[in-house]
Amino acid sequence: MPDIAVIVFSRGGNTRKVADAIAAELGVPVQDTNAPLPDGARLVFPGSGGYGGKPGEPLMQFIGSGNFSGRKAALSGTSGGPEGAKHMMAEMREALLGKGATVIGDFSCRGKFLFTNRGHPNDEDLANARKFAREMAGSA
Ligand SMILES: Cc1cc2nc3c(=O)[nH]c(=O)nc-3n(C[C@H](O)[C@H](O)[C@H](O)COP(=O)(O)O)c2cc1C
Repeated sequence: MPDIAVIVFSRGGNTRKVADAIAAELGVPVQDTNAPLPDGARLVFPGSGGYGGKPGEPLMQFIGSGNFSGRKAALSGTSGGPEGAKHMMAEMREALLGKGATVIGDFSCRGKFLFTNRGHPNDEDLANARKFAREMAGSA
């Protein structure tokens, strides 16, 4: 499905695992925030870790510099706790809406952080991410 793009910013590798699972499920590569948004991408999966309740700045710059009008977006993220995820996902959603995207869904799970969430994202988290990918691609 070449009309799908998966973009991730991941400082510690947790969100990269989620992006890898989404991309593998849909048979597309993962790109980082330095590559431009492919012209033909109709469904975009932007993902980031949460840092102080915010998405990574490179991901926000990627959104801010892209034209999302006419494109659908399905968000993903990992965070230490559910509150962190809530704030981070809301900020990504706002930015994408402001750039003309239609946000069709979001997925988040815990990511290991210091001594918490050991092993996350785990196999179950990644299975949920793959399911999310299928659902989003099916409804796009
Ligand atoms: C600098 C920094 C700040 C963080 N701040 C929060 C936070 O405010 N709330 C939270 O739930 N998790 C916080 N975390 C935990 C991360 O959201 C979590 O480890 C996430 O999985 C990181 O994703 P990554 O490995 O893709 O970078 C923070 C992590 C780092 C490194």
